[in-house]
Amino acid sequence: RSGLMDKIVALCKRRGFIFQNSEIYGGLNGFWDYGPLGTELKRNVRNAWYDDMVSRHDPLDAPEGAPQAFSMVGVETSIIMHPQVWKCSGHFDLFVDKMVDCREAKKRYRFDHIKGRWIEGQVKDPGAETKTKRKLFITAVADGDELEAALTQRALKIFEMRSKDADKLQWQSDPTSFVTISQSDYVNVLAPDATAPGTLTEPRDFNLMFKTIIGALGTADDTAYLRPETAQGIFVNFKNVCDSTRVKVPFGICQVGKSFRNEITPRNFTFRSREFEQMEIEFFCHPAESQAWYTYWRNRRYAWYTSLGIKSDKLILREHAADELSHYSCGTADIEYAFPFLDEGEYGELEGIAHRGDFDLRSHMEGKLKNENGQLVVEKDADGNPRHRGSGKDLTYFDDATRERFTPHVVEPSAGADRGTLAFLCEAYHEDEAPDDKGQMQTRVVMKFHPRLAPIKVAVFPLLKKDGHPEAAKEIYRDLRSAGIATTYDEQAAIGKRYRRQDEIGTPWCITVDGDTAKDGTVTLRDRDSLEQVRIPVKEVTPEIQRRLRG
Ligand code: GAP
Repeated sequence: RSGLMDKIVALCKRRGFIFQNSEIYGGLNGFWDYGPLGTELKRNVRNAWYDDMVSRHDPLDAPEGAPQAFSMVGVETSIIMHPQVWKCSGHFDLFVDKMVDCREAKKRYRFDHIKGRWIEGQVKDPGAETKTKRKLFITAVADGDELEAALTQRALKIFEMRSKDADKLQWQSDPTSFVTISQSDYVNVLAPDATAPGTLTEPRDFNLMFKTIIGALGTADDTAYLRPETAQGIFVNFKNVCDSTRVKVPFGICQVGKSFRNEITPRNFTFRSREFEQMEIEFFCHPAESQAWYTYWRNRRYAWYTSLGIKSDKLILREHAADELSHYSCGTADIEYAFPFLDEGEYGELEGIAHRGDFDLRSHMEGKLKNENGQLVVEKDADGNPRHRGSGKDLTYFDDATRERFTPHVVEPSAGADRGTLAFLCEAYHEDEAPDDKGQMQTRVVMKFHPRLAPIKVAVFPLLKKDGHPEAAKEIYRDLRSAGIATTYDEQAAIGKRYRRQDEIGTPWCITVDGDTAKDGTVTLRDRDSLEQVRIPVKEVTPEIQRRLRG
């Protein structure tokens, strides 16, 4: 499976989908650049999302499975927001990874659920006198060639220490039970060398928000943060959208944009990056209907991926167990994909759909602070009144029809544009056998993108560089482009080679002008996946491609 991932990464570089950021300077870990084809692919992913969720959404008719008709609108908000936003959202206090340092730190390890495996060893459970045999699910990924035994020892040590933080670790009384690290429980271990255990510090919080400074003075008061999610830009504009448009609850506000997280160890190509793009919906509804909307969005968002070509045997909708939920959530599901860099049977998150209750709007009204249990709560003064460290603005909603005032509940489908793009790239990669120019069967690399996502939809070729073929082909090429269809023209190399070039970048259709074109006004239309070739009239090329694109 990792061999397959290597091939995909190599193709991405070779054909200009994804490059390492600042590559000529040796790269910058956790940052990626999209090349010409990757830019088109990701733009198509983003556009497919925005078209399907907003532009083509019909607010007058309830879509299949929806409790009723509803509006969907877009916003585009700033990356840097008022620092108080992150205090109220909880990111300032709680958006942390756990780190453990070794004082003589030289080497770095990462325990990562993505590439997990089982280890076994003796650990002391909270409050226990003696050690118990435990099976732990970890991955210790060393940044160099380190010894397995030392990594295992350190993992056990970390678990022992972290077990003091009992609500974070799901220790179970059965000593043979498995303990897993959840996605939010990254642990970094710094150690002097692999064989001698170092002195480990207590686990400490490492906030994942990137800091920046606003203005010239640069004092601590000028500290601001790059947003770690686009969602907060939506919540703080809830009232503006209600006041400036005619939307009525239930409705959704959508946003596509960059987010930044100072991930301790970015890895797995673009899967976990420090700069990435999110496609988020905050769907506001009446509390009594929120469960039905949660179910609706879960199913609809799953269906979106399969409609764009992800096969259902690689895609799962995983409902979180009760003990995985945030304290305010009454339901969260992840849409997960079997990425090739994962072991068989493992899945990586593409999107989370969370029932967030009224947590966010309420936080921005009232303000919340972390209590001693690590939960965000409304801070009260000595008389028991909220101290309004939030905006203090009224973010409740008044329903004219029912004359009811309430704080809407939120269902949040939150997707990653880069993770989606990576999943579509992985899903598209195929190798099969196809005849070359001499009729010999050869291995063919073909990216079977859904036509909506393919960076280029059509390639037009003249069979020969003479006899009027290029002129006729260029006319077809221009006609397709003027219809807004992403089209390329290629007259270099033998025709079989040109087909291969297009297969490798996932162009669904090729049009070839040959000797018969001048005689009967037809061209060959070749299908990337079936390799079927049919002759169609030149004047039918653009309408036929448009028909096929509409599906
Ligand atoms: N507002 C909710 C929120 O941000 P999240 O699960 O932290 O939820 C949502 O992020 C999605 O954003 C993830 O499902 C993933 O697709 C994407 N994402 C999160 N962190 C990422 C990272 N470091 N690199 C790439 N994509 C990331």
